[in-house]
Amino acid sequence: MRLIVLLAICSVAIIGAACAGGYKKDMSQGEKIFRTYCQTCHTLPQPSLKTDDQWLPLVQRYGKRAKLSQRQIELITQYLTDNN
Ligand code: HEC
Repeated sequence: MRLIVLLAICSVAIIGAACAGGYKKDMSQGEKIFRTYCQTCHTLPQPSLKTDDQWLPLVQRYGKRAKLSQRQIELITQYLTDNN
């Protein structure tokens, strides 16, 4: 019985996450910009892919290619370096 309840809770959690489509309500502005612009040319890179020192010049480079503003680049960098 306890197992069934646990399974029910798990499936609700999984379905809930899937329905949200990865769009969490509390998604930061930086994450939104990142998801919008950083997968137009390739798949979305994982924040954990690079260190803080590596993200800084990379976001500058690709942000400019995507014609983002300096502010948008800063927000993306913030998101990536907070989550790597
Ligand atoms: C205009 C197309 C374009 C956009 C927009 C773009 N990229 Fe890229 N990205 C590329 C290409 C092309 C490569 C392959 C390497 C190269 O030619 O620079 C690449 C490679 C990468 C790599 C791997 C590079 C490495 O040295 O490991 C990362 C990380 C990356 N992009 C991050 C981003 C991020 C973050 C954004 C959003 C700010 C972004 N890209 C937006 C075209 C783009």
